[in-house]
Amino acid sequence: MRMSFIAGNWKMHKTMEESKELASQLVQRLSGSPYRIMIAPPFTALGAVSEVIKGSSILLGAQNMASSESGAHTGEISPDMLLDSGVSVVILGHSERRHTYGERDELINKKAILALSKGLEVILCVGETLDQREAGTTEKVVTEQVEKGLKGVGMSDLSKITIAYEPVWAIGTGKTATPEDADVMHKVIRSVIQNLYSEAAASNMIIQYGGSVKPDNVKALMAMENIDGALVGGASLKAETFVPIAEYDA
Ligand code: 13P
Repeated sequence: MRMSFIAGNWKMHKTMEESKELASQLVQRLSGSPYRIMIAPPFTALGAVSEVIKGSSILLGAQNMASSESGAHTGEISPDMLLDSGVSVVILGHSERRHTYGERDELINKKAILALSKGLEVILCVGETLDQREAGTTEKVVTEQVEKGLKGVGMSDLSKITIAYEPVWAIGTGKTATPEDADVMHKVIRSVIQNLYSEAAASNMIIQYGGSVKPDNVKALMAMENIDGALVGGASLKAETFVPIAEYDA
């Protein structure tokens, strides 16, 4: 039985005060949630939010991480710095990192291996662009992203991996993949895991959907057999929209 995992990616939004305010509303309103809940504030607010959610069941996520442990990497944040700030999960390979900042599968894989070696959980994001979908290469693109992203990840670390399927054309656009279309891709991802690892590994893998998840579409998406949670952007920025997503009726 896979436990649903609902994560909020705040992207480049919110000052420290705003982050603390939202985190404290979520602590109050989500204490009884039956699902795993994570929030990923900007780096500058991690420490402060960590204090606010201490003792609650909300997990602290980071939106990115360096590919090296330490050293001369101006502007980067190391895994130890994340751990130091109370982070337990790191989002890697988000489409904005891939497409705006040129991150490639090899770099994302290096980050994943490093994060796992430090005991961090990883949300590995994959997803096709509109051009790739229209060219009919969605399955190939996503399969390659999963295979390359997980290269060298051993079976024993697999329980620390969540995969987030986020079709790029659905992110921040208000366009959602239909639940059926999303489920098809989640099934593809599950079969990639089966080929790489085992049937049991595939059936245990948590696969989130991301891309314009809102209170009014979450239930239909989560009802699909292969969709095990959501990675939420815009709607995670307010308690009024994140709480109903995080408490959807199963
Ligand atoms: P939106 O929910 O704003 O479409 O963003 C999705 C996303 O990129 C989450 O990581």
